[in-house]
Amino acid sequence: MGRDYGMTDTRILKNKGIGIFDSGVGGLTVLREIRKLLPQENVFYLGDTARVPYGNRSRDTIVKYSIQNTRFLIGVGIKLLVVACNTSSSVAINALRSKFPDLPIIGVIEPGSEQAGGTTRTRRVGVVGTRATIASGSYRSALHRFDRGIKVFQQACPLFVPLVEEGMHRTQFAHDIAQHYLMNLKKHDIDTLILGCTHYPLLSPVIQRAVGSRVKLINSGEAVAVKTRAYLSRLDLLKTKGKGSIHFFVTDAPVQFKKIGKLLLMHDIANSIHKVVLEDYE
Ligand code: DGL
Repeated sequence: MGRDYGMTDTRILKNKGIGIFDSGVGGLTVLREIRKLLPQENVFYLGDTARVPYGNRSRDTIVKYSIQNTRFLIGVGIKLLVVACNTSSSVAINALRSKFPDLPIIGVIEPGSEQAGGTTRTRRVGVVGTRATIASGSYRSALHRFDRGIKVFQQACPLFVPLVEEGMHRTQFAHDIAQHYLMNLKKHDIDTLILGCTHYPLLSPVIQRAVGSRVKLINSGEAVAVKTRAYLSRLDLLKTKGKGSIHFFVTDAPVQFKKIGKLLLMHDIANSIHKVVLEDYE
């Protein structure tokens, strides 16, 4: 396992993993979709649990953390990187692409926007995400690249992530907070809502209740998995045989990670979690 993702021997590359990173546990929603679609692939998932949340941090810090995460995963041996974190995808993806030009990198913004653009009938699309994601305007730009005529209504929901991290996403409290955040989007009469944060698919039932059953919720994870498969296939890097393994890396105590991991992936992941330190990956 070395830093040799640029090598051209496709047989070796095919057996390398798909690297996925997120600021914490939320990116497991993306991993779940990739796993469903590509069960034969080896996957390395890094959750930066020591430094979560990214969503309220400055651009420089998010870029620095994202570079460290990528360097770590390259060291483990990956053929493609999925930036599952919406905040990193919004703020750091260009920096990552210029820093690691040989590594195929997929973010979550484009696939989610394309899916939303193809879904909306009224061309009125809502986006919810962390403060950094909403402030970056990344979804607005991507939706407009898809269709300039789409009207985009955005809402930062900073309390959603802690609700999920605390396992409170099914409570009345979560419902009340969702009502509060989504009241305005509802007034704008959207027909499609992008869940622009890794954690929000876990809040789908409360979000759906708050915006009404006619609004279609877009979970970028599915679209990212489809794009990952297409990308690997185009590069002739799909691993087509055998059952893939999953290794989890976290930067801090993995208690909540184990709990939510089990909930999302429907099996115990405790034995495949490794604790790592990223500060040296400058
Ligand atoms: N993973 C982040 C995202 O998708 C949410 C959690 C955080 O703020 O770090 O935006």
